[in-house]
Amino acid sequence: MIITIVGGGSTFTPGIVKSIALRREELEVDEIRLFDIDRERQDKVGVVVKWILEEDVKTDIKLTVTYDKEEAYKDANFIFAQMRVGKYAMREQDEKIPLRHGCVGQETCGAGGLAYGMRTIFPMMEVIDDVEKYAAKDYWILNYSNPAAIVSEACRVLRPNARIINICDMPIAIVDIIAQSLDIKDLHKIEYDYFGLNHFGWFTSMTYEGRDILQEVKDYVKAHKMLLPESNIEAIKKHVETTGNRHASSAWIHVWESVYTMLELFPDYVPNTYLNYYLLSKESVEHSNPEHTRANEVMETREKTLFEGIDHYLKTGEISTKAFYAGEHGNWIADLAIALKNDTKQRFLVIVENRGAIPNMPYDAMVEVPAYIGKNGPEVIAQNPIPLFQQGLMMQQVNCEKLLVEGCIEGSYQKVLQAFALNKTIPTSTVAKAILDDMIEANKEYWPELK
Ligand code: NAD
Ligand code: G6P
Ligand code: MN
Repeated sequence: MIITIVGGGSTFTPGIVKSIALRREELEVDEIRLFDIDRERQDKVGVVVKWILEEDVKTDIKLTVTYDKEEAYKDANFIFAQMRVGKYAMREQDEKIPLRHGCVGQETCGAGGLAYGMRTIFPMMEVIDDVEKYAAKDYWILNYSNPAAIVSEACRVLRPNARIINICDMPIAIVDIIAQSLDIKDLHKIEYDYFGLNHFGWFTSMTYEGRDILQEVKDYVKAHKMLLPESNIEAIKKHVETTGNRHASSAWIHVWESVYTMLELFPDYVPNTYLNYYLLSKESVEHSNPEHTRANEVMETREKTLFEGIDHYLKTGEISTKAFYAGEHGNWIADLAIALKNDTKQRFLVIVENRGAIPNMPYDAMVEVPAYIGKNGPEVIAQNPIPLFQQGLMMQQVNCEKLLVEGCIEGSYQKVLQAFALNKTIPTSTVAKAILDDMIEANKEYWPELK
């Protein structure tokens, strides 16, 4: 069993490797390979990965750190894809350019997400083609490279037969926060229904050991005016940085407060936090610092801690487990791989072609819905028709993403402009054009030419 991690130099690699190592018996893993195009970055991450495998979890899993595609993918069974095309330098542009025009500045939502999508579509197709060429015939690519909504639509259009499952950790991160807030010890016993698009969906039911907790969540949010555990809220009040929970760090706090505002306005379902960028765009812009966005925060915290920790280890032979985060993110990816490999039919949210799962959404829309996962991939669970409000929002976003993918493939300025103009975070078409023109300039190295 060979698992290849694409974007081996990612800040998430150590945590994911730790989860794989801890679950090695269920995964029967013999070898982990790291593949990246940034040699320096991946070599450093490779150092801590080796330490995790050999010293921390004490396994005999073989480690290969490579920049060669054939060596990376040869006979691989699972490919975990987590690349960030353009790295944090471009994330910063994705967030800051729209803010300069008074619009939401976010890496996966709004203009920033569209720009990141334009950078990622073709590199992702290259990964699929290389995997097809070298990997085991029954390979599975688990892709969580963002923007997953746009990447998955591009896969549907350009590589419809690829064995790829596109996924997102935000719903389980929200369930984790809910579990901590309601003092529920085992988040895996929380069951829920959910529908939407990636970074654009709603929890419609939630139970814990048969107890209906959706209303409890709503009551908790009403009482605390945000969705975060009390310990995090206390830390925020004292201006102490919360540890261990990246989703509770500074730039994310407003996001958890927005759950309160969204639930006051639309109390039926518990929204995915990402909906705040669409439903509360103006407030999101007001809460942003156009000079210092989440990209800066990540570079100053997660990235700095990891690479300083590695340098310290190289100098002293000592490593602090605080250098990297291991937990739910990696566990969730390992869980999914185990479900595929061992045919467990465990339930996960996945981003899939609708094909009637949501009856009043188009057949070919990429939706995020629950599915049972076994060796042949997702068996999607059929949904009831969704209400007009959610359906209207989703249609606007689906068409925006489809236009972007078409525009990117055809090199069509007009279609990409329409995608920007259709995005709910951008108030008027002249602003859409101004942002697009700035994005073209900033992304010269990465985007196809638009005519
Ligand atoms: P990062 O910049 O630390 O790591 C990304 C790595 O990808 C870098 O080492 C970079 O060199 C590499 N890379 C870039 N282009 C590549 C290419 N063409 N081929 C191979 N490698 C390439 O970023 P990060 O913050 O650790 O995030 C990694 C990715 O995971 C991002 O896309 C992020 O959005 C995504 N992510 C997704 C979810 C989800 O819910 N779907 C959750 C967490 C992170
Ligand atoms: C959530 C989302 C991911 C996104 C991440 C960003 O986990 O589901 O898609 O990549 O947040 O987190 P960051 O710490 O990099 O801001
Ligand atoms: Mn996500």
